[in-house]
Amino acid sequence: MFWRGVFTKELEEFMSPKKSYNIAVLGGDGTGPEVVREGIKVLDAAAAKFDFKLNYQEFDFGGDRYLRTGEVLPNNASDELRKFDAIFLGAIGHPDVAPGILEKGILLRLRFELDQYINLRPVKLYPGVETPIKDKGPEHIDFVVVRENTQDLYAGMGGNVHIGTPNEVATQTAVYSRFGVDRALKYAFDLTRRRNKAKTLTLCGKTNVLTFIYGLWERAFHEMGQKDYPDIKRDYAHVDATTMWMVKNPEWFDVIVTGNLFGDIITDLGAMIQGGMGIAAGGNINPDPGGVSMFEPIGGSAPKYTGKNVINPLAAIGAGQMMLDTLGETEAAARIEQAIMEVTGKKLKSLAAGKMGYSTTEVGDLVANLVA
Ligand code: IPM
Ligand code: MN
Repeated sequence: MFWRGVFTKELEEFMSPKKSYNIAVLGGDGTGPEVVREGIKVLDAAAAKFDFKLNYQEFDFGGDRYLRTGEVLPNNASDELRKFDAIFLGAIGHPDVAPGILEKGILLRLRFELDQYINLRPVKLYPGVETPIKDKGPEHIDFVVVRENTQDLYAGMGGNVHIGTPNEVATQTAVYSRFGVDRALKYAFDLTRRRNKAKTLTLCGKTNVLTFIYGLWERAFHEMGQKDYPDIKRDYAHVDATTMWMVKNPEWFDVIVTGNLFGDIITDLGAMIQGGMGIAAGGNINPDPGGVSMFEPIGGSAPKYTGKNVINPLAAIGAGQMMLDTLGETEAAARIEQAIMEVTGKKLKSLAAGKMGYSTTEVGDLVANLVA
């Protein structure tokens, strides 16, 4: 009956209004804004397709703002960003600003203040993407690195004395609390279970030298595994050996959990074996209830390609995919990943800037059209 159809639709809309998410957009420096624009193009296509809404608000944090105002980050930045459901970040790093100022003052400060204690970095080789590792293909390279994101040498403990004299001394201390290690481990174990692949979690450490900090990690790892995750196989590799296995036998890994600095280093290697910075995405995750997470392409601001419409936006698009996944829009996220795989498998000549066979905006269009 006609009236019944109308009534049901209205009732449905009333009962479940369109889901909507508020996204803070930090384009940042260099090619950041260009790739974020393509990411948003694809996110909007996914939102239309899967019937949810994304509201964006832009923030101008980055090198240009710092050079203009002398302020790296407003003091209320974290409080403002906490009001959003997620943050979509382009890149931080400006050729006219000394190294460290923006990285520590924006990126690390936001990670710390928003307590994004997980840095999630999938290493997955898509079809058609060239890996520098001979004889390895997509069936061999598919693992995830869970990098602790708030402690370690990054905590900023240490200092210099007698600067500028031959007696200068510098210290920088790796700091780990049991609490901080446990919460990272819990995330990694849960993720390994959720992935449901080899059900293997590898702790990457350096227990033969850094006996204090990685001794703590190792004890916490086995205690938690034994008690709460009997279904997950536990493995261990020193960080130096990890870099070796990542090249020689990447298929051995399912999920790797590690400290902040080791995670930083091994994920650049990870990015290379999955096809380079053009494709590598990551999430700075605060998994706690109400936590606000921040998603970014893990490559830098690539100043020499800025404004040329040649940079590869797939890493930013992949970051958008991770953002939707974390927000619970898992179907939309899966569709974006499918579209990325179509594009890498059938369209692009290379993932390198300027060599894709398409411009930045064209690659965004290709993916968005496949999502729509
Ligand atoms: C990364 C980067 C940052 C880090 C820098 C820019 C502070 O290398 O996200 O991996 O070391 O974490
Ligand atoms: Mn890094």
